[in-house]
Amino acid sequence: MSRSAHPAGPRHADVLPEGHYTAPADDLNALDPKVWAHTVGRDADGVVTVGGIAVTQLAEEYGTPAYILDEADFRDRARAWRTAFGTDADVFYAGKAFLSRAVVRWLDEEGLNLDVCSGGELATALSAGMPAERIAFHGNNKSPEEIERAVRAGVGRIVLDSFQEIVRVAHAAESLGKRQRVQIRVTVGVEAHTHEFIATAHEDQKFGIPLADGQAAEAVRRALQLDGLDVIGIHSHIGSQIFDMSGFEVAAHRVVGLLKDVRDEHGVELAEIDLGGGLGIAYTSDDDPREPHEIAKALSEIVTRECEGARLRTPRISVEPGRAIVGPTAFTLYEVGTVKPLEGLRTYVSVDGGMSDNIRTALYDAEYSVALASRTSDAEPMLVRVVGKHCESGDIVVKDAFLPGDLAPGDLIAVPATGAYCRSMASNYNHATRPPVVAVRDGAARVIVRRETEEDLLRLDVG
Ligand code: LLP
Repeated sequence: MSRSAHPAGPRHADVLPEGHYTAPADDLNALDPKVWAHTVGRDADGVVTVGGIAVTQLAEEYGTPAYILDEADFRDRARAWRTAFGTDADVFYAGKAFLSRAVVRWLDEEGLNLDVCSGGELATALSAGMPAERIAFHGNNKSPEEIERAVRAGVGRIVLDSFQEIVRVAHAAESLGKRQRVQIRVTVGVEAHTHEFIATAHEDQKFGIPLADGQAAEAVRRALQLDGLDVIGIHSHIGSQIFDMSGFEVAAHRVVGLLKDVRDEHGVELAEIDLGGGLGIAYTSDDDPREPHEIAKALSEIVTRECEGARLRTPRISVEPGRAIVGPTAFTLYEVGTVKPLEGLRTYVSVDGGMSDNIRTALYDAEYSVALASRTSDAEPMLVRVVGKHCESGDIVVKDAFLPGDLAPGDLIAVPATGAYCRSMASNYNHATRPPVVAVRDGAARVIVRRETEEDLLRLDVG
């Protein structure tokens, strides 16, 4: 994404260094609803509030850093996806984005299904009472033990990712006297990320069975012959943080092409197609994600058109949004520890977390925004880099952003849109203890994942 440098008066730098930043907002105290959870605002004292609770109170009660999750917003977004896709389609929330037992209950109550991709996620889902038939089990190397657990539990579908797995799942099902519903995950030769869309050699990856060289057709051929398997459809997932629907268009075209080949060869019309997740969210004000109803309309039109062209019955569609549901619902609350101006460069703001609670900036060069949360300020904007407390110079949370020039140790700052792939990818680097997830709703806060303690760390270290 190309960004323009901003010429207007940040402290500590007459000429701004190279970087990817937009001009500071006219009002640094404003909270762009695009990147903040629905109930976020400021109270009369200028303190950021969520679900009616001030972040100063949350910090006092639960400490920092902490992920603060707006439960009402989560439910709203889950419901919006559910409603947009209606009763002729299924929405599977991708648990890898963030999963906890509370989240599973919310999903269950809001009528969503759940995609899990490991024994741990499956255990969480089942222990919170998600009906097994509403669970899809993913993964490119599920262990025999995970497969057996999933089949035994009666998951609604296992997404097969290799020829070995076709045999393993069939075998597990037959030994348990069951017939397992499965989809076959194919790679359609499309990979889409953020603003790019490339349709070349993207079969070069570990997921799925390639379509182009006939392997996917062979996988269907083999799976259809096995008594333990009920082949319900084809699965495709093309990437992450996608705004452009054209990648889905190409994917649907190719998947429908396979459905047609299967019909012609076997006389079987597979009943379902899953188009995966990957729908983008706004991390900064520059991002413009689509609404669920626009996405639902676009996908259903694409699939219907393709099927009409191939004279196929339109299959039931399913999707697997993770980030688009949970991403915008949470922010990370940090306390500022040090403020270090570097003349002619930028000001380094160190917070009490870092790459252990948000690895995305270091790993993907991800962009985030940030706001002063414990008060407002009319000070001139200064260009900052928000960094963590880890022993690594790449320990960056927000690469380039503007905060008020009077920022000081003890201030609370909040980084929005950290609901997805932050807690779920958190680590104990430098023996950091992973932050809690605090859910806020209607003036009440509760911990849904507690803060790790040093005792927790020591408990694993058996000497
Ligand atoms: N379905 C499948 C088969 C997937 O592999 C994924 C994500 C999803 C659904 C959900 O995608 P979402 O709607 O959340 O974008 N750690 C990376 C993202 C990796 C996504 C892996 N698969 C990140 O932080 O951006």
